[in-house]
Amino acid sequence: MKSTPLRPLFLNLILITTCLPLAAQMNSRNTPLDGPRPEIFSPATIKRADALIKQMTPEEKLAQLNQLFLFAADPKIDAAVTKGQVGSLLFVTDPTEINRLQHLAVENSRLHIPLIFGFDVIHGFRTIFPVPLAMASSWDPETVTRAQTVAAAEARSVGIDWAFAPMLDIARDPRWGRIMEGAGEDPYLGSAIARAQVRGFQGPAIGTPDHVLACMKHFAGYGAAEGGRDYDASYISDAQLHNVYLQPFHAAVEAGVGSVMSAYMDLNDVPATGNHMLQTEVLRDDWHFQGFVVSDADAVKSLEKHGFAKDPADAALRAFNAGVNMEMAIDQTAYSTLPAAFQAKQITLAQIDAAVKPILEAKIQLGLFEHPYNDVPHSQQVLNDPAHRTEALHAAERSAVLLRNENALLPLSKTAYKHIAVIGPVADNKHDTIGSWAFQEDANEAVTLLEGLRTKVGQSAKVDYAQGVQVKRLYPSFFDAIFKEPKEADWTADQAKSEYDKALSLARSADLVVLTLGEKQDMSGEAASRSSLDLPGEQQKLLEAVTALGKPTVLVLLNGRPLNITWASEHVPAILEAWYPGTQGGNAVANLLFGDVVPGGKLPLSWPRDVGQIPINYSHNLTQDYTAQAKRYWNEPSTPLYPFGYGLSYSTFAFSNLKVAEPQNKVGQPIHVTIDVENTGSVAADEVAQLYVHQQYGNASRPVRELKGFRRVNLAPHAKTTVDFTVTPADLSYWSPASRTWTEDASTFDLWSGNSSAAELHTTFTRTR
Ligand code: BGC
Repeated sequence: MKSTPLRPLFLNLILITTCLPLAAQMNSRNTPLDGPRPEIFSPATIKRADALIKQMTPEEKLAQLNQLFLFAADPKIDAAVTKGQVGSLLFVTDPTEINRLQHLAVENSRLHIPLIFGFDVIHGFRTIFPVPLAMASSWDPETVTRAQTVAAAEARSVGIDWAFAPMLDIARDPRWGRIMEGAGEDPYLGSAIARAQVRGFQGPAIGTPDHVLACMKHFAGYGAAEGGRDYDASYISDAQLHNVYLQPFHAAVEAGVGSVMSAYMDLNDVPATGNHMLQTEVLRDDWHFQGFVVSDADAVKSLEKHGFAKDPADAALRAFNAGVNMEMAIDQTAYSTLPAAFQAKQITLAQIDAAVKPILEAKIQLGLFEHPYNDVPHSQQVLNDPAHRTEALHAAERSAVLLRNENALLPLSKTAYKHIAVIGPVADNKHDTIGSWAFQEDANEAVTLLEGLRTKVGQSAKVDYAQGVQVKRLYPSFFDAIFKEPKEADWTADQAKSEYDKALSLARSADLVVLTLGEKQDMSGEAASRSSLDLPGEQQKLLEAVTALGKPTVLVLLNGRPLNITWASEHVPAILEAWYPGTQGGNAVANLLFGDVVPGGKLPLSWPRDVGQIPINYSHNLTQDYTAQAKRYWNEPSTPLYPFGYGLSYSTFAFSNLKVAEPQNKVGQPIHVTIDVENTGSVAADEVAQLYVHQQYGNASRPVRELKGFRRVNLAPHAKTTVDFTVTPADLSYWSPASRTWTEDASTFDLWSGNSSAAELHTTFTRTR
């Protein structure tokens, strides 16, 4: 958003005079608005696009702005591609079909412009990695980059040039099903994960071989849907928008992301897809974004439903004028009315040229003009590369979060247990291991938890399984048609009782129980919001009954959002959050449970005690005395069950010696912080050193804590290391609702470091002008 929107001149003058003291406090050199201008297309690409544009008719240019879904071969689409009436297709994944369509575009259309093929490559293509929320739990950008590098290589090998990822929506309401697709609640962690994903998808630059164009989405504010109801409107203050919701998007732009997807919902009563402030002022004017914006599916036509556009033609004009270059549509696009709008002089040639240019630049720089076709036999080799499965295993191991481990039940002894009961509805289902937003996986190769445990213990123990309960959505998912999970027939009441009893008697007969509870694949993701965070179905009853048997019991969670596990957190000795861990999930969990790998993941969100605490996030503001619990809720603590950044290990760590090199420093200068981390346990393990900052006073109230640095380190037993952080002036600046501009205050700051947002080791520093 421009800090000085259009307003009458006299008002500007008044503002200039009244805001002078505030303006003087700003340090414009270092505000996030003044990051590097990301040049994502080379001068040669730009020159070639300009030359191509000169040869194109207005109709040919406008045709490039159309993107259509293609689920199965369709003669209408063949004809449109042949006539050059489509710029892009999505959801075609068969390499032979992609080649066939590309031949039509390249050989038969007048200007031989190749199509760009897009697809939702969210957490893998054939090899499925943990879901994005899980990947963020690794607190390890390197692992994230490696995962998306594999995903990009697999997708590109079949001819997909463009991934509709990363999803960068900050979400603080776990009722929202899509919280699973993002990096959680925090803008700093979210930005780091955003950069890592862009690097993974695109490589060092757009056009790097075996990589794809990334598409950050959903711009912007989708994660704040009211009530957590998917697609509902978001109401976000300007300060929250700048300081929280836009941050990961800005980070991705600075990392060179090539495309953007507009969001579905209204942002403060203006639909994101018709929102000039978002799609032009923020993105292009403030951030200097050079790529292109595609709408979300049918989001242009929906402008009519919003009560914003009069009809499809009006919707097209509004989206186009807001800055949406390309329309994604399930069928006919509203943008097909743009040629008439041009004839009627409602849009100009200059606008059309500006809209088509970055699309052509992306196609050129991706090498589509030189290499429009994929090599089908080679794609099979890429998809079957065993190294990709190894990466998926590594990622799943690094993403799991150990929430509880009483009396060191974990790691499990490899010799003590002879009969293991694996119980629960998601323990032996390939799709529930993989999670939502995977369409091209080979489900057969996914390793369920039951399978992983069986492989791990081999002949040394008997592993038996009982599902116990059946869990289902009340309303079916519209994705059911696309997700290939065969639907289980509903159990009769008798069957339900007998399966439940079977599970309990299995637990009774075993000497170790691994309860695997959570959510089915279709319970998280798009159109998968819930009004409750309880374990779906009768899982809580099963949990309590099994735990009451008093056996050594481990609860493994497979899910896409924090669930209400407050009871379990008091009664079940060990809890491992595995999220939806992907193709290698079962092996990863088995390695973690038996201690061949030590958990090191941390929560990327605050874990609520129950749904009534939502929204809950650690970086809230402090008004009145927060430590007096009774001033918040009188029925339960107002703190989360587990804080942001929390996660246990099989080792223990000590933090000491928190030092700021410049305890007195100047606004505009960086700050150097060091902290010693020591592995005080007896196994080599990872710890995530985290740094939190709080500004004590200034131009506006600031959150009690904000993450401003983190590093995952591996330490041998008793080893100690010094972790250093640089806190930049941009890290300490924020968009102030008081001055309505980016501000860096002279102030005293608290600093904490440790292994969660509840870290206690504290010091301060002061910044003056
Ligand atoms: C989703 C997007 C996705 C698109 C294409 C939409 O429903 O909101 O995230 O990229 O479909 O599949």
